[in-house]
Amino acid sequence: MKKRILITGAAGFIGSNLIHKLLKTGCYCVIGLDNFDAFYPRAAKEQNIAPFAEDKNFRFYEGDIRNRADLDALDDIDVIVHLAAKAGVRPSIKDPILYQDVNVGGTQNLLEFARRRGIKQFVFASSSSVYGINAHVPWSEDDKLMPISPYASTKLSCEMLGHVYSHLYGIRFLALRFFTVYGPGQRPDLAIHKFFRAISSGQPIPVFGDGSTSRDYTYVEDTVRGIEAAILYESSDFEVINLGNHRTITLEGLIEAIEESCGKKAIIDRQPEQPGDVPQTYADIAKARKILQYSPSTDLKTGLDNFYSWYRQTQEQDPL
Ligand SMILES: NC(=O)c1ccc[n+]([C@@H]2O[C@H](COP(=O)([O-])OP(=O)(O)OC[C@H]3O[C@@H](n4cnc5c(N)ncnc54)[C@H](O)[C@@H]3O)[C@@H](O)[C@H]2O)c1
Repeated sequence: MKKRILITGAAGFIGSNLIHKLLKTGCYCVIGLDNFDAFYPRAAKEQNIAPFAEDKNFRFYEGDIRNRADLDALDDIDVIVHLAAKAGVRPSIKDPILYQDVNVGGTQNLLEFARRRGIKQFVFASSSSVYGINAHVPWSEDDKLMPISPYASTKLSCEMLGHVYSHLYGIRFLALRFFTVYGPGQRPDLAIHKFFRAISSGQPIPVFGDGSTSRDYTYVEDTVRGIEAAILYESSDFEVINLGNHRTITLEGLIEAIEESCGKKAIIDRQPEQPGDVPQTYADIAKARKILQYSPSTDLKTGLDNFYSWYRQTQEQDPL
């Protein structure tokens, strides 16, 4: 019998890549839930899930994780993969109450739903941002957490909520800390997408700070392989796991790599550093390797070329 997987945030970037991966295996029925949050255009999200419309192993529900009735309307479920959230560090500083409401309130509502329905496995999209300004890298899961944005603090709260529900109700809770995920379908607010759009059309790119900040970019196919391993994981009831790439690149280096992929030079629009942005991210992935057999294999050049090829096919001809 196929495992029935609920994916919240199904129409988003990581959600739609995960649906593609799970359906391809033939081992899962996927139930997608998304409210088409206005953070970026609905049309982009509809485009993300359009390829699955005819798949008999996929059902989509438009609904809000904060709304009990929307959850109660869903089919039977074995595992929840909870990706729905207000994403983005900078906008969370503008509207922290909304981030708290959707990310923490929504996660609590979903955990209550899991408890009511007797769903015993919950995979949660946490974030590298919980490490914040901890200067000791690479970050491993038991390092000190020093978040510096409302977004990051909501993710940490959700990890703790997960511990509560795992302890009280035996719901296995796996918090996966994603490290800047990129690839086809990437959110339009994220640097790689923004830079390709601007550089390929001869527009200036805003660069915050002196270009020395660094990120551990993870290709989305590697991330979704890690998520699938977490869906199948059964060895303990609560784990926090880094899903990064264990390779960092500076902002300056990233821009050069994108210039190479595009075949065009960037026009730099230098801006001050942004509050809430951390100077570096860098994942220690020893735990993921050990317990999820996670092994990211996509190098930056291949990942950027794949992104650009998707961008040209879907965005350049028919911008959303
Ligand atoms: N992309 C990254 O680099 C990254 C890094 C760390 C963590 N994450 C986390 O991974 C998850 C997925 O990120 P993404 O980049 O795919 O973002 P995304 O914005 O593309 O996807 C999130 C989806 O959640 C939906 N959503 C928002 N509020 C909702 C609600 N109240 N009810 C139902 N659906 C709702 C949105 O419409 C969207 O389709 C998020 O939780 C994000 O915080 C992402």
